[in-house]
Amino acid sequence: MAVNSSQTEPGLSLRMEGFEAPATIAMSMRARELAAQGKDVISLALGQPDFFTPRVACDAAYEAALEGKTKYTPIDGVLALKQAVQKKFKLENGLDYALDEIMVANGAKQILFNALMATLNPGDEVIVPAPYWTSYPIMAKFLGGIPVDVMCSEENNFSLKAADLRKVITDKTKWLIINSPSNPTGAVWSKQDLLEIAEVLRDYPQIWVFADEIYEHLIFDGAVHYSLAALAPDLKDRILTANGASKTFAMPGWRVGYVGGPKRLIKAMMKIQSNSTSGASSISQVAATAALHHCAKDVEEMRQAYDRRRIMMKEAFSNMPGVTCAVPQGAFYVYPGIKGCLGKISAGGRKIENDQDFAEALLEEHYVAVVPGHAFGLSPYLRISYAADDVVLEEACKRIAKFVESLQ
Ligand SMILES: Cc1ncc(COP(=O)(O)O)c(C=O)c1O
Repeated sequence: MAVNSSQTEPGLSLRMEGFEAPATIAMSMRARELAAQGKDVISLALGQPDFFTPRVACDAAYEAALEGKTKYTPIDGVLALKQAVQKKFKLENGLDYALDEIMVANGAKQILFNALMATLNPGDEVIVPAPYWTSYPIMAKFLGGIPVDVMCSEENNFSLKAADLRKVITDKTKWLIINSPSNPTGAVWSKQDLLEIAEVLRDYPQIWVFADEIYEHLIFDGAVHYSLAALAPDLKDRILTANGASKTFAMPGWRVGYVGGPKRLIKAMMKIQSNSTSGASSISQVAATAALHHCAKDVEEMRQAYDRRRIMMKEAFSNMPGVTCAVPQGAFYVYPGIKGCLGKISAGGRKIENDQDFAEALLEEHYVAVVPGHAFGLSPYLRISYAADDVVLEEACKRIAKFVESLQ
């Protein structure tokens, strides 16, 4: 179901060859088509909070607009936001960044884009622990790099093991991307695993690290989030610590991401941003500043709601025949395995040979959109977002259970 841009499409660049829209988007597009036909579709395919942005952030943006804060912004972000980010890094992550080591962008996605574009030469390798957020390998490839998977298996709690990392490092390795808590598995990597990863990295001074910590506040069961740069201060000058407002503050549409990292890399990333999008939206930055200062209580309320839903999902999936589901400690996804459903036939006559077939049959027959694990580099699994209303989730779980039970 991936959307391929045609290789023969006239007028498009060579770069577009084989370039695919993420499967998360493809599933959502099909869900939208079915909904337009009048079907009662539930989409659990996209990774965005269902909550409204906290009021204090909206008010701050509104007032900023009325006050005329509607001009172009500095490329690296407005001072008040950078100061709020600096304070956040210090207090929450134990990281000291000078203001010229901090940059704001149009989402964490743009930070990743800037970073890879500023550093990758053709053929450079980007190590992407799988299962991964779909944009990592796509972006690495788009920018001339070669994504290299390293598997984080369910037996290892979907965490990267140092020995596995060491095996995939070559003299072409330019980046290691780490993402804890993880999209798609919800795994929170342990301090011990991160310390061992740091130990490997010490042997390879040419490797940059992109630590994507965008889900850091969505953790459960007393799990603790650790920033690699804080655990391994000697590596800090080659680590980008990336984060943003999208998940923590339910602000994905405002497009605010931020990063702390070495000055020389931040400077190069700014050059790219200044010649592409310029600085992030003026009023969004005011909203994000207010959120960083005033929204701890809202974040905790949302976290508790996600926690409740997480438990509901876990219970629903543990009762489905042929389905296994680890208890995720972070983010807002479950990543159930569906090995026991393979080889069966759905009530609608579809043979389930892989997770793509499962996801398609579930959508076509019971109108629930989820994303097949192959999109994230590990099959046969499904990524299911529980960033949705409790009642909707309950209905989705019922439909999935009905679908699974109907498999012959
Ligand atoms: C792991 C991860 N990193 C980054 C992003 C993008 O965040 P932003 O909205 O800040 O661009 C996402 C969004 O789904 C994500 O899951």
